[in-house]
Amino acid sequence: MKTNIGRRIAGALTTMALTAAAQTATITVQADKPGAQISPQLYGQFIEHLGRCINGGIFEPGSPLSDTNGFRRDVLEKVCELNPRLLRWPGGTFTKIYHWQDGVGAQSERRCRPNLIRGGEVDNPFGTDEFIRYCRAIGAEPYISVNMGTGSAEEAANWVEYCNGTGTTYFAELRRKHGSPEPFRVKYWGLGNEEEADPDCGRLQDPAEYAKVAWQFAKLMKLQDPAIKLIVAGVGNNTNWNTTVLKSLHPVADFISAHWYFRTTQYTNLLGSVAAFDRQLDAYAKFLAGFPAEPKGFSHWYRFPPRTGPVKLAIDEWGLWNGGAGGREVLWNLEQTYTWQDALAVASWLNAMHRHADIIGFATWAQLANVIAPIQTDRNGSVRQTIFHPLALYAKHCGTQAVAAHCESPWLDGTALPALDVAATANDRQRTLTVAVVNRHATQAVPARIEITGGAYTLTGGHELTAPSMLATNSVTRLAEDCVRTRQLPASFREFPPRSITLLTYESKP
Ligand code: AHR
Repeated sequence: MKTNIGRRIAGALTTMALTAAAQTATITVQADKPGAQISPQLYGQFIEHLGRCINGGIFEPGSPLSDTNGFRRDVLEKVCELNPRLLRWPGGTFTKIYHWQDGVGAQSERRCRPNLIRGGEVDNPFGTDEFIRYCRAIGAEPYISVNMGTGSAEEAANWVEYCNGTGTTYFAELRRKHGSPEPFRVKYWGLGNEEEADPDCGRLQDPAEYAKVAWQFAKLMKLQDPAIKLIVAGVGNNTNWNTTVLKSLHPVADFISAHWYFRTTQYTNLLGSVAAFDRQLDAYAKFLAGFPAEPKGFSHWYRFPPRTGPVKLAIDEWGLWNGGAGGREVLWNLEQTYTWQDALAVASWLNAMHRHADIIGFATWAQLANVIAPIQTDRNGSVRQTIFHPLALYAKHCGTQAVAAHCESPWLDGTALPALDVAATANDRQRTLTVAVVNRHATQAVPARIEITGGAYTLTGGHELTAPSMLATNSVTRLAEDCVRTRQLPASFREFPPRSITLLTYESKP
């Protein structure tokens, strides 16, 4: 490890002169500088009819491991540990061919269709009612993306009626007939998915065209239920697309989506991608600030209200799609084994989201089981992949409010990347602080001086994750093993071990 010092302040990296004590990092947390609320839905998840994510992943009717709903009990238990407060479905790209009526009603009457996106067939045993049941079982809000490829605005509006209708209209009654007298109250609705993409079954690659069609979808869906929140399809880093779309749709766009997949297994490049993501979020903050916090002059003739509150970013797919440990990418073969270094990148990625909590409405990891996923299954059981651990740890222990944190850290050898990546959060009106620190160095511990300003706080302990090597993995072929070591920390904690993820807890002194 070089003795240069890298300093990250609100995402920006600057260098400092070499010093004799440079191996010790200095972390400053400004308890008197609370930032934005962190959406609890930042730890959301995504399931798609793709490979074995749903069928054979979370859902396997007839398996001795499944409950009477067909939900895999072993998987459900792990999903609850991830505690996703939002679950997105049915896609993804699959959305573009999904007709929701194929997947409701008696199983024997569900329609089987060719899968025009990925080949094979779709026989629809897991449809809207099963999705809602799954959301309820794990305590997540449902988020549904509608079909703007082969579907119509009317079909999407009928879906809103089926889910949320309270009257005696046809689709509300159909839901009742299918056994759900109470409305599902689905609040989040996505207008399509990656609509700029050409090689799939989409048809709206021009942003102006997308905006025009999406407006019609928005109107019909909002007329069914004015309380729903809409996510319009954005494109990460495509300013022209995002600007055109939001200029037109911002009065009804509660969120604009962006997808981020990191596609490298080369460690430095992976961490470089996380740093680039941090900078991209800075750019998004400026971009979103260009739209009014409350739309003005919205005609009452629409018979539904405009958006309230600023447009937020919906990172409704994020993940590592890099082939995994020794893997190679095959079209739509999205099952991979994650290494411990992938998990370190995921923790840094979560830190970056905490630093930008003010603009992020929610995030849903892509995807929950088997498909580029934290949970891997086979017929005999399931495992928590390495990346599962930071996702679960952050969801469980991080606070609900961002707090300013600075770190002066040694750099990783030969890079402009700090070894330590730090973000802080608070709970309970700053009574508790959680300082998240990722030591990304493979072999060296980093001692740290930690100063909390703006209040009297005591370190009371924490949680630490480590693994025996950067390339350590868990696998469904070794069901009983877990390479990740979890440790409760004492209040005397002083240094961050190599390749570790640590959440330190501070309590304010009464
Ligand atoms: O998550 C896998 C796929 O990646 C999704 O279907 C699509 O939206 C994205 O390109």
